[in-house]
Amino acid sequence: MVGHANYDYTGESAIVTGSTKGIGRGIAAALVEAGANVAINSRTEAAVEATVAELEDDATGEVIGVTADMGSPGGIEDLVTTAIDEFGEIDLLVNNAAVWPREESMVEASLKDWEYTMNVNVRSQFYASKLVAQHMIENGIEGAIVNHSSQTGDRRAGGRGLYGISKTSINGLTWRMAHDLAHHGIRMNAISTDVTRTYQLEKEARMIADDDPDRSVADVLEGLGEELPLGRLGEPADLANAVLWLGSDRAQYVVGTIVRVSGGGNLQ
Ligand SMILES: NC(=O)c1ccc[n+]([C@@H]2O[C@H](COP(=O)([O-])OP(=O)(O)OC[C@H]3O[C@@H](n4cnc5c(N)ncnc54)[C@H](OP(=O)(O)O)[C@@H]3O)[C@@H](O)[C@H]2O)c1
Repeated sequence: MVGHANYDYTGESAIVTGSTKGIGRGIAAALVEAGANVAINSRTEAAVEATVAELEDDATGEVIGVTADMGSPGGIEDLVTTAIDEFGEIDLLVNNAAVWPREESMVEASLKDWEYTMNVNVRSQFYASKLVAQHMIENGIEGAIVNHSSQTGDRRAGGRGLYGISKTSINGLTWRMAHDLAHHGIRMNAISTDVTRTYQLEKEARMIADDDPDRSVADVLEGLGEELPLGRLGEPADLANAVLWLGSDRAQYVVGTIVRVSGGGNLQ
């Protein structure tokens, strides 16, 4: 690699939605390691408590947990209010939580799945950003917001239509809201990845392996990684590195950008 970066988030406070597993957890762990105060979130209380306990071990900042459903406006209000009460201010919001319903085609997709997907994946990123941006503007905080998109949001075809539409919407949200927030000194950007090693991906790989006795879950994951131009799966740390950069002064002139952290999946 050419060049090396270290980040110092001492004294900064962050919220990471959906951060007990996968990429969200990797982002939260990287922020804790960089010295930030971090609010952990998911819908599962036991997972939130366990994650806080594990991350607290090496933390120099404060780590708190808020069990709340990002599909519900009340849950989002709870998360943002609790984090502001505990930390005094929020400097960084990472909108990471998402669901991936599987439908055979857009014709088969149900209205219920449409609403669920849009509420968890899109409305939550809009509403959490709106609440945190209001707090930042009122308190003169020139903070950062990082949304989570996906390569599926760039594609015109392939499975998971509802999920794809939700992520295309995140690209639009990022452009429009970034423009509104920029003159307050608040930078909104997004990260986008392709196949990244997480619980969800392992669940998918297990389904493929179950249908093919010659392949193990590890074989399926390796194969998915080999299909990418850089030849390997994404890891949560790859996305965490992009968030650390986007939140930092090294990205102070970067706004409204979708950063593709996808091993070249963005070229396919
Ligand atoms: N993994 C990939 O290959 C990939 C590819 C492209 C984009 N992404 C994006 O990366 C982000 C993270 O995905 P991931 O693969 O890391 O997912 P994951 O392993 O399934 O983890 C999702 C996290 O979000 C929480 N969560 C789910 N629904 C929630 C809700 N309604 N409210 C609050 N928390 C919720 C989960 O905990 P509970 O279930 O306990 O609530 C968990 O902590 C998503 O935005 C996804 O679209 C992932």
